[in-house]
Amino acid sequence: MQWRNSLGGYGAAVQIVHWFSVLLVGVAWVLGTVGEDLPRGRARDLGELIHVSAGELIAILLIFRVGWRLINAPPSPEPTPLGRSGDLAAKIVHLALYALLAAVVAVGVATQFADGDALSVLGVFDIASPWTKNKMFAHDMKEIHETLANGLIILATIHAGAALVHHFVFRDRTLRRMLPGVSEPR
Ligand code: HEM
Ligand code: HEM
Repeated sequence: MQWRNSLGGYGAAVQIVHWFSVLLVGVAWVLGTVGEDLPRGRARDLGELIHVSAGELIAILLIFRVGWRLINAPPSPEPTPLGRSGDLAAKIVHLALYALLAAVVAVGVATQFADGDALSVLGVFDIASPWTKNKMFAHDMKEIHETLANGLIILATIHAGAALVHHFVFRDRTLRRMLPGVSEPR
């Protein structure tokens, strides 16, 4: 197994972080969306803990993957009929996905603190809210958190759609080189 990216493909480190992040975003979004429908008490508390912990893991993986990108460049884009404008669009979408991941988590933490609630860090220890409860501010933060989270899901869906277009229409290696074990880096 090759951990580092090569000129023609992603290494295992980026692949694992990418797909684990996708799983965590899915879990966080589903629990955020249905969380209030869970029965009050243990089920809702557990849902909240998993929601927040998934968000925290997303943040840790995000720091790792941005750092990794700085020391180990991603492979160059596969050539497509869209040429350089297609490559630029993909770059902008990737940047926007990084920014949205960070923003959703940051505003999620602000939502928690604005409620005056402590933030559990992966269920291991708590960070007390530095703010006193402010209902209006908490409401606004929650709305922004939800909008950003939904925006992230919409953009990720477009991004996934683009990956499928690469695979089935352009028939290039873009999707395959993000899949473990399917193709060796060129
Ligand atoms: C450390 C990270 C995070 C924290 C601290 C956090 C915190 C919160 C809090 C406090 C709420 C309000 C719950 C309530 O009052 O019922 C919430 C709701 C929500 N969260 Fe998060 N969250 C985090 C990460 C995420 C992530 C990564 C996503 C999605 C990708 C997400 C999506 C949502 C959604 C869709 C809601 C429902 C909003 C609503 O009903 O208005 N959250 N989150
Ligand atoms: C929450 C969902 C997703 C997020 C946040 C996300 C984010 C990203 C980001 C930031 C990159 C740039 C490289 C990196 O840092 O890893 C990337 C690359 C990639 N993603 Fe996703 N992704 C998501 C879901 C998906 C899905 C569902 C698919 C497939 C159907 C997919 C396929 C790919 C492929 C093929 C690449 C490599 C693109 C290239 O080589 O230019 N992603 N993704």
